[in-house]
Amino acid sequence: MCGIAGYSGPKNADQVLILALERLKYRGYDSAGLAILHQGEIHLRRAAGKIKALSDKLESFPVAGHCGIAHTRWATHGAPTEANCHPHVGGPDVPTVAVVHNGIIENHDALRRELQALGDVFSSETDTEVIPKLIARAYTGDPEAAVRAVLPRLEGSFAFAVIFADQPGRILAARQGSPLLIGRGKKEYLLASDVPALLPHATEVTYLNDGELVDFTAETCVITTFAGTPVEPKFTRIEITADAVEMGDFDSFMAKEIAEQPVVLSRLLESRLAGDRLVEPDLGLDLKAVNHIVFLACGTSWHAALLGKRFLEQLARVHVEVDISSEYRYRNPVAGGDTLVVAISQSGETADTLASVRMAKAKFLPVVGLVNVVTSTIAREASGVMPLFAGPEIGVASTKAYTAQVLALYLFALQVAKAKGLLSREEELKAIVAARALPDQVRRTLAAAEGPVQEAADLFSAAEATVFLGRLGEHPTALEGALKLKEIAYVHAIGYPAGEFKHGPIALVTQHLPVVCICPQDAMYEKMLSNLQEVKARSGRVIAVGDGNDRHLQDLSDVVFPVETPLDPLLQPILTILPLQRYAYHVAMRRDCNVDQPRNLAKSVTVE
Ligand code: AGP
Ligand code: GLU
Repeated sequence: MCGIAGYSGPKNADQVLILALERLKYRGYDSAGLAILHQGEIHLRRAAGKIKALSDKLESFPVAGHCGIAHTRWATHGAPTEANCHPHVGGPDVPTVAVVHNGIIENHDALRRELQALGDVFSSETDTEVIPKLIARAYTGDPEAAVRAVLPRLEGSFAFAVIFADQPGRILAARQGSPLLIGRGKKEYLLASDVPALLPHATEVTYLNDGELVDFTAETCVITTFAGTPVEPKFTRIEITADAVEMGDFDSFMAKEIAEQPVVLSRLLESRLAGDRLVEPDLGLDLKAVNHIVFLACGTSWHAALLGKRFLEQLARVHVEVDISSEYRYRNPVAGGDTLVVAISQSGETADTLASVRMAKAKFLPVVGLVNVVTSTIAREASGVMPLFAGPEIGVASTKAYTAQVLALYLFALQVAKAKGLLSREEELKAIVAARALPDQVRRTLAAAEGPVQEAADLFSAAEATVFLGRLGEHPTALEGALKLKEIAYVHAIGYPAGEFKHGPIALVTQHLPVVCICPQDAMYEKMLSNLQEVKARSGRVIAVGDGNDRHLQDLSDVVFPVETPLDPLLQPILTILPLQRYAYHVAMRRDCNVDQPRNLAKSVTVE
């Protein structure tokens, strides 16, 4: 979702802030703006559309100053127009206060009417604008007092930053539900929604918790709770480097992150294996006593959760439920004392998953976070954390985090099985050999599938819809392949359990419909072949994902995406998804779509 940045220090604030916005843009945005403090005045620059439009504006109308706040907006209230762009201002005539905000102020309507009755004139349709108007009215020379007075009036989730025209070099920010970080550099402090935006200036970071307020300048940083209790900031070194958040030689983060998968999986294996033994994750749990697991996740992470269920059922014979976080949080689920909740989230900030975590904790259930961002809110609030070590994932379409989640869940299932005495030493060794072989298989599969994937993208990029079919472990692959194509290439796509296809969706098949049949050499192969025949018999166009040397697949398909067969069939979905990631990428390229910032989407969905 939107990004917030702030800077106070010796450098030109506009330059620091534009770079920070560039680093936040992967979160998804539709407009951008900043406010710089200079000689007792607030200077605003805002533009609908890309950050480039904002930097062009700054070139034509430069602003000087060493302190400011900035924002990439992902519209919730009001269209993505310049008038609705943040920062928004308050003050009697000239702006005395400017605010950037992430989240939703749910009672904005009532507050707006109250302020209008007092004579305030609003210039946007946003919920945000009530914040600077309220702060400006409460301000009598003490910024902290003004912000503290307004906080109890705001309902909903938010992170906001505020500057005051007569407070040089000073920024205040508050967090209640949306992430906010403070970076420390050399005689400078920064504020951002995410670590990459603090680079390269800051070397250390600290995280605001919900209900905390920060008041900083270039040299001082004071954190308090909303009620005014001091909080000791704990700064830690920033571990990621600027390189990790750059595209390097790739044309997109998505392409870079797909290619990184062999390295990512190797790194994950190193963290979870010691030689030929599984390392039990330190979750503060007795895995042997776990008899019921609930996986909670959204989007791609939910697809990984579906595979987690399969692994745990097959390997550890544990009863597993998989729930979409936004459903779970509202349906008052039945959960007993032996239930373990596992929240799966790449970002660790997804609002619905975070709310589910809090709900489960309120029921006194143990909650483990399977996250990529270990400093995220979910990681901090869960009782135990399983990190993915996938490195920053910037492309909106999740790719490397997905395969890492799937492998992490496989290893977790093995660990539970071992703790329960259901995994012999021989089985453990076999599984480890299979897992260790994966990174090379991923590398080879990506290379071998590239030609056929491009050929299929040439053939089918104009198709209006695509169907993905798979069974058991390949049903999540079908869902994930369809999601990738929808989100970055804007092609309507559905993933279906292949056996269910004949119960309705087969009516869609015509000679214009590409059907992706995921038919690896597994126990479901024959069944999948029959499904493929059924599509072919109705003149459908077929892309098969399976063994590249399989004559049946070659005879029955327009194109075959060759994938290797893993040593443990349970791991097959890590290989079958690879050509589908590349297929979505190539179709998107042919349709002139921006794969890293697809329309309407946000990388980290921090609102409901
Ligand atoms: C993935 O390609 C999507 N952009 C999206 O579905 C994503 O997986 C979902 O928003 C969940 O995000 P999380 O893993 O960070 O919680
Ligand atoms: N609700 C605010 C708006 O629509 C902020 C949205 C955001 O988080 O970018 O302007």
